[in-house]
Amino acid sequence: MDRILIRGGNRLAGRIHISGAKNAALTLMPCALLTDEVLELGNLPRLADVDSFMHLLNMLGVSTMTKGSKRGAEFGRVMTLRAKDVSDTTAPYDMVRKMRASILVLGPLLARMGEATVSLPGGCAIGNRPIDLHLRAFADLGAEIEMAGGYVRAKAPGGRLKGGKVAFPFVSVGATENALMAAVLAQGSSIITNAAREPEITDLAECLVAMGAKISGIRTDTLEIEGVERLHGAKYSVMPDRIEAGSYACAAGITGGDIELLGAKTDTLAATLAALSDAGLTVEETTDGIRVAGTGEVKPLTLSTAPYPAFATDMQAQFMAMLTLAKGTSLLTETIFENRYMHVPELNRMGADIDVRGRSAVVKGVGSLTGAPVMATDLRASMSLIIAGLAAEGETQVSRIYHLDRGYERLEEKLQAVGADIERVGGG
Ligand code: EPZ
Repeated sequence: MDRILIRGGNRLAGRIHISGAKNAALTLMPCALLTDEVLELGNLPRLADVDSFMHLLNMLGVSTMTKGSKRGAEFGRVMTLRAKDVSDTTAPYDMVRKMRASILVLGPLLARMGEATVSLPGGCAIGNRPIDLHLRAFADLGAEIEMAGGYVRAKAPGGRLKGGKVAFPFVSVGATENALMAAVLAQGSSIITNAAREPEITDLAECLVAMGAKISGIRTDTLEIEGVERLHGAKYSVMPDRIEAGSYACAAGITGGDIELLGAKTDTLAATLAALSDAGLTVEETTDGIRVAGTGEVKPLTLSTAPYPAFATDMQAQFMAMLTLAKGTSLLTETIFENRYMHVPELNRMGADIDVRGRSAVVKGVGSLTGAPVMATDLRASMSLIIAGLAAEGETQVSRIYHLDRGYERLEEKLQAVGADIERVGGG
């Protein structure tokens, strides 16, 4: 099993290419199911989750082709996807268990084929993450839902969904994405209220419009869709990954470094950039991206995660790592997931002083961290351990880094290029 070794203490300086967004790619790829024509997606990141999603789509009969070598030096893979015929409408348990985003084939399959069967996702490290809101949305669009043997089977009577009103009781990124992809081919018009407004949803809506969908209210919490008979192919480029950018910004902060995040867009990062400034970092928009520089001293913060445009839950673990060395006590509150503090025991083993009380974590700044063997538990927790290791005295060994490979493209290469003493070692 691969591990990552870091010898901390280097100040990071230089430029990091920000890859295409994982969470945009995973909702754009299933759009291929909505048409029998070719969907070409550009700027795709080379990530385990993108490969897993491609294999799931292949199982459903989608033919895919990637241009540029798999391990090519360049970033931004181009993938063509074509669902000329959909040969299967089931997302099997072992796929969904490995990657929850697999449930994002439900909406497109229902819309295109009039039916879909998907395994209930089961829990994951950060929470039990049910899909009740997804299923309610499909029912609001006329689908009949039945559960049997850990699987959910959804069917559109007469083979086509009907436009309807989907009112989400609380914000859900995935349920908004599934509802949107289901509604675009429904008969009649639909309205989705309390829709999530994450930039990845804007990317999805704009890709669907490029395919011929009729959607208004994009970027707002109310999406209005006029169902159409069919969608055509399109070419669309995936947005830059705002979470990857924010993660490397925290690495600059904790090492007192100076990193230009190439391709990062300020308009998708407002809450993250505001928090970085409040922590004492300088943040500057450049012609090529965003430059973030630490001063060697990090100020404590009080942060609470919430749906976009507020401070992202996907940034909580990374900020916590940076705040372990702040001059003072920080208070972080996680309002989205019930168990997103798996990184805390590992950070405390490195000498941090973090006390979790229910949904909140009190982070008392310490003078230094000490490298240690630590274990990754979920994607963003893994990144927080890397960030801590970059500043810790001595060597940090992060194991179970398959979590990292799901969401960070060529992480050690990108960090080596800005001066980190980091390497991947196999086996053992
Ligand atoms: C997406 O997950 C992201 N994943 C997550 O990123 C991100 O943390 C999350 O949105 C919140 O921003 C992808 O885009 C692939 P939700 P999703 O539905 O859609 C509850 C990462 O690190 N809920 O907005 O699954 C749910 O349990 C990943 O890149 C229900 O109760 O998140 C959670 O507590 C981790 N019923 C809350 O809502 C439902 O039917 C928000 O979940 C759906 C969700």
